[in-house]
Amino acid sequence: MAKRAKTASTKKSATRSTKTKSTELSTSCVDVAFEDGIAWVTLNRPDKRNAMSPALNREMIGVMQALELDPRCRVLILTGAGTAFSSGMDLKEYFRERDGQDFITIRRIERDAEDWQWRMMRAFPKPTIAMVNGWCFGGAFAPVVGCDLAIAADDAVFGVSEVNWGIIPAGNVAKAVAETMSSRNAMYYLMTGETFTGKQAAEMGLVNKSVPKRSLKNATRRLAKNLLQKNSAVLMQAKHALKAVQAMDDWEMSADYLHAKGDQLKIMDTEDARAEGLTEFLDKKSFKPGLGHVSEKKK
Ligand code: COA
Repeated sequence: MAKRAKTASTKKSATRSTKTKSTELSTSCVDVAFEDGIAWVTLNRPDKRNAMSPALNREMIGVMQALELDPRCRVLILTGAGTAFSSGMDLKEYFRERDGQDFITIRRIERDAEDWQWRMMRAFPKPTIAMVNGWCFGGAFAPVVGCDLAIAADDAVFGVSEVNWGIIPAGNVAKAVAETMSSRNAMYYLMTGETFTGKQAAEMGLVNKSVPKRSLKNATRRLAKNLLQKNSAVLMQAKHALKAVQAMDDWEMSADYLHAKGDQLKIMDTEDARAEGLTEFLDKKSFKPGLGHVSEKKK
């Protein structure tokens, strides 16, 4: 009996996915772990509620540059250690300690933050998901919106809190809320500094959905696994195309741009997902594109 139980548990652990910390990519402020194609990137200053200091920002640039080329990362999940996703920019190290420095140094500190929080995030060639596990304030809105998708814990607490301590939501935070929330909601929370929950964030469209905290990791992992089944070149072209056409007012221009992006995909996609999809649906009748992905066809 004991032997049977052992065999069963060995089998279970053989199929269970394993999350392995990357010692070469983890830094003093950022933890990186790999799990079956997913890179879990955790802002790791829990005692400071993962406030984003200049050091953390520089380290995140390095982490993202490395993950861009690392085949172990096919989907990036960004989250925070402890009770916070991130309490925003570090009021001591990012604001107070830079005061009095020369303007080139200040610009550099700002640029490092913006580089990873939205510039690199928005251009990242692989899918990105923000998993908002707790406190999320001010500057943290930039990477949440910078990520392609976002899932929050129902009871995560969000706040565009800059006005509460006397600054405006710069670092493109105002842009991030303007892009995802209705103008009434964006203006309300930006002017009052009131907090709102993960559930409200989902209702307002700032995140895709919220789930109870105990299900957050699994829900995020499920979403990542859905993306892992798709062709990576198709996903990259699709998400970059959506971001580009959002900024285009002219329908003729966006139509032409999308045709060009589609044609470019034919060169990039060496697996030719399109031809496989057509064959599987039209000839083999082995899957229905309306109901699932081609890789699921034989399940
Ligand atoms: N910058 C620098 N330090 C921060 C910080 C930030 N954004 N947020 C938290 N910390 C530090 C605190 O100073 C404290 O440090 P200490 O232990 O050395 O005193 C530590 O993190 C814990 O913070 P505390 O306020 O005690 O935690 P809490 O769980 O009771 O409250 C918050 C969490 C997030 C509600 C609260 O820390 C807070 O309001 N932070 C600022 C959020 C904000 O407005 N950010 C916008 C920046 S633009």
